[in-house]
Amino acid sequence: MKDEIIEEAWKAQDEQAQLKEQVAYYRARAAEYDEWHLRQGRYDRGDEHNLQWRTELDILRSALERERPFGKCLELACGTGLWTACLAQGAADLTALDASSETIEINRTKTGNAPGRYVVADLFGWWPTEKYDFVFFGFWLSHVPLQQFNRFWEMIRTALKPGGRAFFIDSLATQESTARDHAEIDDSGVVERKLNDGRTFNIVKVFHDPAQLERQLGDLGWRGSIGRTEQFFYYGCMVPTAAG
Ligand SMILES: C[S@@+](CC[C@H](N)C(=O)[O-])C[C@H]1O[C@@H](n2cnc3c(N)ncnc32)[C@H](O)[C@@H]1O
Repeated sequence: MKDEIIEEAWKAQDEQAQLKEQVAYYRARAAEYDEWHLRQGRYDRGDEHNLQWRTELDILRSALERERPFGKCLELACGTGLWTACLAQGAADLTALDASSETIEINRTKTGNAPGRYVVADLFGWWPTEKYDFVFFGFWLSHVPLQQFNRFWEMIRTALKPGGRAFFIDSLATQESTARDHAEIDDSGVVERKLNDGRTFNIVKVFHDPAQLERQLGDLGWRGSIGRTEQFFYYGCMVPTAAG
């Protein structure tokens, strides 16, 4: 029993260290983050790939637009603003949160300060004090360790007004999504990431299978559907049920 408690404490400490490294990685990567989205530099895998990537990004954008985010909206792990402007279009009031102030500064410049409010916070220690009509998180769920999965969705439930929706997009397990000099992806839940200057970081990356994720969320008291694009992404819109 005592050994088990000690082992759990070690695991929790490891997880904390890894989540700290994850924030450090994104802070250091802020200025080069968009290269991934734009398929530039180490992410450029040739015209055919880049065209497919852009086509699939357009599918995500259309899916988000179809949901017509409105009212009070919250963007978690907002990053450099690649989706923020889209959310800001219909939102009466948008709050954008990220752990990296560097990233938020880029977001501010890119979107012309579109969110009414920016919050610099660590999502693993943050809990909502207000209610929202629409909560969006892009390429964030994959960075939530499995041990934190239930708590994360409980936090989203707390953040939503009755009738509110959670919309998310994320990565399928596709090696070609990542930089040409990144290691083979696997299902360990951890990946090594490199910056342009060669520095390396280990971060959390959980590749959810869309169908399995939909079932898992159903078991947690969410209903909705999760779709996927051909190669790179999945996207879902979920609402909490009373049973959850
Ligand atoms: C993969 S990026 C996604 C950015 C943006 N949502 C997008 O789709 O372009 C992950 C984001 O999570 C932020 N992040 C990392 N750890 C965090 C934490 N513990 N709390 C809040 N944000 C965090 C990073 O700073 C980064 O902006």
